[in-house]
Amino acid sequence: MGEPGKTKFQIDLRRYLREQEEDRNLTRLICEIADASKYIVNSIRTGDLGVAGTSNLYGEDQLALDVLSDRILRKRLLHSGVVANIVSEETSDIIPISTDCAGKYSVAFDPLDGSSLVDVNLAVGTIVSIYEGCELLQPGRNQVAAMYILYGPRTTLVFSTGSGVHEFGMNQLMEYTLLRENIRMEPRGSIYSPGGQRNLYSPGTESFVRHLEGNGAKLRYSGGFVPDINQILMKGKGLFMYPHLQGSPNGKLRVLYELNPMAYLIEQAGGAASTGRGRILDLEPKQIDDRAPVFIGCREDVAMAEEFIRTQG
Ligand code: F6P
Ligand code: MN
Repeated sequence: MGEPGKTKFQIDLRRYLREQEEDRNLTRLICEIADASKYIVNSIRTGDLGVAGTSNLYGEDQLALDVLSDRILRKRLLHSGVVANIVSEETSDIIPISTDCAGKYSVAFDPLDGSSLVDVNLAVGTIVSIYEGCELLQPGRNQVAAMYILYGPRTTLVFSTGSGVHEFGMNQLMEYTLLRENIRMEPRGSIYSPGGQRNLYSPGTESFVRHLEGNGAKLRYSGGFVPDINQILMKGKGLFMYPHLQGSPNGKLRVLYELNPMAYLIEQAGGAASTGRGRILDLEPKQIDDRAPVFIGCREDVAMAEEFIRTQG
């Protein structure tokens, strides 16, 4: 494999997908999203940091960048010819694109997760979940692919189509080339990223955090889901949580746009993702805006969180 003189690590995303013999429409879809991210990264670097004057389904103020990123992605998906339905964290309904589901994919996405961090110049990301056919309200275990793009000091794209997790980096020509193949997680980690206010934690979550701290785990939390998960995945050791809180039994993060795709990627790397009481990918979503608590990362750490919650709530 590979042209003479070209190392494997200069392989670009399209060629990599072709060599993996991925379905042509899925390859097309992933490449369209990768192309859209080039415009999103440009907007992040130079665009308007103000509010759009609208709010999303969760009552959060939409930033001009949220709206723009959403439009960039939606337009790409609309014209891709391979998409049936889409739903975005920034829209209030499923948007039908084609009624012909055969050979097509449906996509749930968070166009610019953590967008309120852009004005303080921290990292943000795009998160994407992909299903075959028309159905978007189905358990995350049925995803056929998931990916995120991380807009940090460098721009990276991490994806899985069910055979491992692979990382690509954007080069000077704005092409994505392979950085790491088949990323794997250790069974147990040494960093933790705890979301939500600690004084609202349940007894089980509080004891679990004390247990991690007692074992010398270091705190690493940026407030951006994509960079926080990326750190855990790339270092191969760690746990992120946004637990059930007093007054918010389902935590904060959204099943369709945030939890399912990240759970798919982390499981593909040998990690685990749980609500504290069961596998994230087995949740049966009822609404597009469903939320759930999450403990995600190294599998023994996740099992430990489940044990604390089972015994102490
Ligand atoms: O979209 C949700 C999000 O911004 C995630 O990126 C992040 O993990 C989380 O919210 C942070 O929430 P909080 O500000 O409550 O820590
Ligand atoms: Mn988000």
